[in-house]
Amino acid sequence: MSAIRPAAVVVLAAGEGTRMKSATPKVLHEICGRSLVGHVLAAAGELEPENLVVVVGHAREQVTGHLGAVAPGVRTAVQDRQKGTGHAVRMALEELGGGPDGTVVVVCGDTPLLTAGTLKQLTATHAADGNAVTVLTAEVPDATGYGRIIRDEATGAVTAIVEHKDATETQRVIREINSGVFAFDGRLLAQALGKVRTNNSQGEEYLTDVLGILREAGHRVGASVAADHREIAGINNRVQLAEARRILNDRLLNEAMLAGVTVVDPATTWVDVTVTFEQDVIVHPGTQLQGATRLAEGCEVGPNSRLKDTRVGAGARVDSTVAEGATVGAEATVGPFAYLRPGTRLGRKGKIGTYVETKNASIGEGTKVPHLSYVGDATIGEYSNIGAASVFVNYDGQEKHHTTVGSHCRTGSDNMFVAPVTIGDGAYTAAGSVITKDVPPGSLAVARGQQRNIEGWVARKRPGSAAAKAAEAASRKPDGEG
Ligand code: UD1
Ligand code: CA
Repeated sequence: MSAIRPAAVVVLAAGEGTRMKSATPKVLHEICGRSLVGHVLAAAGELEPENLVVVVGHAREQVTGHLGAVAPGVRTAVQDRQKGTGHAVRMALEELGGGPDGTVVVVCGDTPLLTAGTLKQLTATHAADGNAVTVLTAEVPDATGYGRIIRDEATGAVTAIVEHKDATETQRVIREINSGVFAFDGRLLAQALGKVRTNNSQGEEYLTDVLGILREAGHRVGASVAADHREIAGINNRVQLAEARRILNDRLLNEAMLAGVTVVDPATTWVDVTVTFEQDVIVHPGTQLQGATRLAEGCEVGPNSRLKDTRVGAGARVDSTVAEGATVGAEATVGPFAYLRPGTRLGRKGKIGTYVETKNASIGEGTKVPHLSYVGDATIGEYSNIGAASVFVNYDGQEKHHTTVGSHCRTGSDNMFVAPVTIGDGAYTAAGSVITKDVPPGSLAVARGQQRNIEGWVARKRPGSAAAKAAEAASRKPDGEG
């Protein structure tokens, strides 16, 4: 079925969402790295509408601000008081300067699982059947709260939608419900909205009344049944928010697995919609992949890792790590228990090991920072080794300074590199050194107190102690047995 480019898509997002019990407007709550309304806009955007209008009302500065950030080019229509879905669409048409020629699609801002495919099916049915309005419906296990689809017993044609609160006992048995998604003829929609009344249990202008109005005027009213009823679920509380997140996450992981990614435990692996994977990536349990994270071919991530806006190169291994804004080169290894902060760039075959924190640090090809270190504001060349328990002392209490270490260096354990300082190519530093001056290439820097042994100190100062007895016994042993 070919999709028809709509004249407009209208997203209803003026409601408060009281049941979320939140200071954040409902449509700004997030699942899989995107707001609820952001998901709806992404699906709607695939229809390539000429106009995309979001109706805002409750907490409208917050919602409008968010839209400006995530969807520039989207228009907003203000609905000051929430007088019903019909009234909300009227506000949108006013923003558009009247009911446009062509198709107007209406969706709700709180249905993040709705796919572009289902929307395209709706607009294609709408065009193929020459309808004045086509409603997206679904058979649901529990229809409580939803508007019911009333069909003509003889022909099966949709005749009306009755809201749950206004429905009779017999009508409430119906399990085919209104998803809240419609395709309309723009002109006829505007005319019919002018005739919508508020004589219902909620005293609201119901968009759903447009169906009956158009049908009575002799226009074609149709329906498109969604293949998967879970797609049209609206989020009203945080239980439903979690359920939707689970469903969307499974959808994303299934896509990745079918594209050649091994997900060892889908139940404990969470991904954002913006994450990309290449073939033969392995993701271990307890892993969260967020933002613009990209995993290249054959890399392995997890268990127990959270990567945000991080690129992992082909064949690299990242274990038990938290990383944000970092780049890990091909065949490099990270962790277990590493913390990569923004601006970390680890070269090919490099290593950031156990209990290592890095920030704004470029670590060259084959260079290793294996244990218990902090590398902040640094550039390290190729094939160098940074000794265990070293600190790049970047902060003097007022400003941050940079440290440069060359290639093929061997720095000793427990070094402090007091920035700004430069270690030349091929240089060595002694264990326990506090490096405050530049080290020329190829030299050994020693910057620590000399060791002094005071013989017999224990026997004199701690006579009779276990230490003194051990020392006494050691002195009696022949050479080589001590
Ligand atoms: C609506 C439908 C119902 C359908 C259900 C699907 C009507 C009258 N009822 O009911 O048939 O089964 O959706 O989820 O249309 N909104 C505004 N302004 C308003 C009122 C609502 O922008 O004045 C927005 C809300 O923010 C929300 C959407 O419209 O995004 C739906 O409103 P809601 O109050 O949740 O409608 P329901 O009562 O669930
Ligand atoms: Ca309502």
